[in-house]
Amino acid sequence: MRITKFIILLVVISLSVSIALPAFAADGAALYKTKCAACHGPEGQGKIGPAVKGVSLSAEQISDLLTKGEEAKKAPHKKAMAGLSADDAKAVAEYVKTLK
Ligand code: HEC
Repeated sequence: MRITKFIILLVVISLSVSIALPAFAADGAALYKTKCAACHGPEGQGKIGPAVKGVSLSAEQISDLLTKGEEAKKAPHKKAMAGLSADDAKAVAEYVKTLK
């Protein structure tokens, strides 16, 4: 009886972990911390790069900037950011829009 409960618990835990992992892969807040905070500050207040909190660009424009880059911008945004999938860019752009 106890062992059955234990096995059920294990199954539930491993299922919730495997469901949680893909969501984590496109976690905007986590991506921002690892990919953007060094330049834009942990709260988007700006550091080496300009502040991104309250930015006038839409989430779509931000994700375009990240995935395509823009000739007129300074590095690193002249080119697409390395290691950022389209989904990642969308998630992090939406996160940037929540910074105030
Ligand atoms: C190596 C430093 C650096 C990193 C890393 C970086 N940025 Fe930037 N970012 C800049 C600089 C510098 C500018 C200003 C570019 C310009 O105006 O020409 C900028 C501009 C921007 C802008 C435009 C702001 C505006 O008002 O037009 C956005 C949005 C932005 N970054 C978002 C991000 C996001 C999101 C990430 C992470 C995926 C990121 N940046 C990573 C340095 C960085």
